[in-house]
Amino acid sequence: MTTVGVVGSTECGRHIIELTAGVRTPLSQGGMTITPKFRSPQAEDLWRKIKSRTARIGVVGLGYVGLPLAVEFGHAGFNVIGIDVNRQRCDAVNRGESQIQDVPAVAVAELVDSGRLRAVSEMHAVDQLDTVSICVPTPLRKTKDPDLSHVISAAEAVRQYLSPGMLVILDSTTYPGTTEEVVRTILEETGLKAGSDFFLAFSPERIDPGNEVWNTKNVPKVVGGLTTDCSALAAALYGSSIDQVVEVSSPRTAEMVKLLENTFRAINIGLVNEIALMCDRIGINVWEVIDAAATKPFGFMPFYPGPGLGGHCIPIDPFYLSWKVKEVGFEARFIELAGHVNGAMPHHVLTKISDALNEHGKSVKGARVFVMGVAYKPEVNDVRESPALDVMALLLEKGACVRYHDPLVPRIYGDLWTGKQDMESVPYSREEVASADCVVVLTAHKSFDYSNLASDARLVVDTRNAIKSLAPNVFKLGAPNPSTAAASSEGGIS
Ligand SMILES: NC(=O)c1ccc[n+]([C@@H]2O[C@H](COP(=O)([O-])OP(=O)(O)OC[C@H]3O[C@@H](n4cnc5c(N)ncnc54)[C@H](O)[C@@H]3O)[C@@H](O)[C@H]2O)c1
Repeated sequence: MTTVGVVGSTECGRHIIELTAGVRTPLSQGGMTITPKFRSPQAEDLWRKIKSRTARIGVVGLGYVGLPLAVEFGHAGFNVIGIDVNRQRCDAVNRGESQIQDVPAVAVAELVDSGRLRAVSEMHAVDQLDTVSICVPTPLRKTKDPDLSHVISAAEAVRQYLSPGMLVILDSTTYPGTTEEVVRTILEETGLKAGSDFFLAFSPERIDPGNEVWNTKNVPKVVGGLTTDCSALAAALYGSSIDQVVEVSSPRTAEMVKLLENTFRAINIGLVNEIALMCDRIGINVWEVIDAAATKPFGFMPFYPGPGLGGHCIPIDPFYLSWKVKEVGFEARFIELAGHVNGAMPHHVLTKISDALNEHGKSVKGARVFVMGVAYKPEVNDVRESPALDVMALLLEKGACVRYHDPLVPRIYGDLWTGKQDMESVPYSREEVASADCVVVLTAHKSFDYSNLASDARLVVDTRNAIKSLAPNVFKLGAPNPSTAAASSEGGIS
């Protein structure tokens, strides 16, 4: 039986399909919209409201995921209420500002001015809604166990105002079973039944902050509803504002889809980090190896080593899965191993810096280290879980004097990292570079100019292959140290 369907937007006049127990039913033929066969009249009523854009849409959590989603709903013609416990965030939205880099302030301002978007911090706004998309954080506890407190408090708040016919969709990344075991249980405490009195689905967000090509609108959205009515409604809602919707058979499947995607990344990054360490040890340049391997037109996808994993997703989400499968006595060995390898990378970078300083007759203690880039990845201003912060904290612990430059991160707050101190980005200058005992490239923003870095700096440790040429004072992660490389490349290609 087929379990995946693709549902397009009716407005595009494309061929639309719905999946009902494995049978694909056309929803649109020759530009004419066909109403799916709903079991519940309330579902059909909501479907009509979605199609006519009269459904009142709510997004709970206006962060990296929720704000872009709210904006897409607004662009599709809905009236949207964003709900966030952070009053300042709501005030900013209502002033037409965007705190999310990928969402232009002008887009927020236009929607606010036209009355299509409004942000509130009081949950009773749910009372006025037909649909609620929950986009709240899902971090890990220190023990690496899932912290569902935000999902639970959002679901409990929705429960107070849940009304018959409402559609609730969880978008936060989480372990398989959360929608049914946690959210459904909380919402059904009202006495209303999921699937008949109200509708429930899971739809993972796949946004990639800083990506100039792929965004909330053009990345296909996976949806999995509790029942076929739930799925059809979630697909209709997201299909109204997102280019392509991929329907799967259940919320658990949709939850697992997201964890497969992020586990795939975490494990492949772990693999390439380990290959980098091997190359380092046996005197091969891993960057050259990856570039050459990537010329294979099939069966290989390049991943790149670095100082570790960062962001709110890749270092965290796989542990939601490994935690969940422990319940059934399953040990997620790949996930644990990748976590181990990736988690050790900041320590390897510290060793590289220490080796480089050592070759220049210096110790880490007392060394002036200038860090370039602290965001968790290029072109973002987000430092959550950033490995750059881990490297900086290790350097401080060893007595180095650390300064950093990151045009996207003007300040690091002491309470948000293990280094514990507030730090400010210092402007980039050739003098700053020249005065450092070691410059460390940890995040390679495109705006950085590396052309003079090797000649201006006494020593560079490059964890991102930002400096393409070999130089006697450039130490690269995953490559032999310059003196070894010079000796072994005599007669070879440099
Ligand atoms: N950031 C990403 O790149 C990304 C990508 C894909 C998926 N996700 C997932 O999406 C979810 C949200 O992540 P994010 O990066 O948008 O988080 P975020 O921290 O940027 O935003 C979450 C927002 O939710 C608000 N919030 C928290 N609890 C709330 C509650 N009970 N009621 C109302 N508002 C509440 C917070 O104040 C915050 O503004 C997470 O599960 C994350 O794993 C994130």
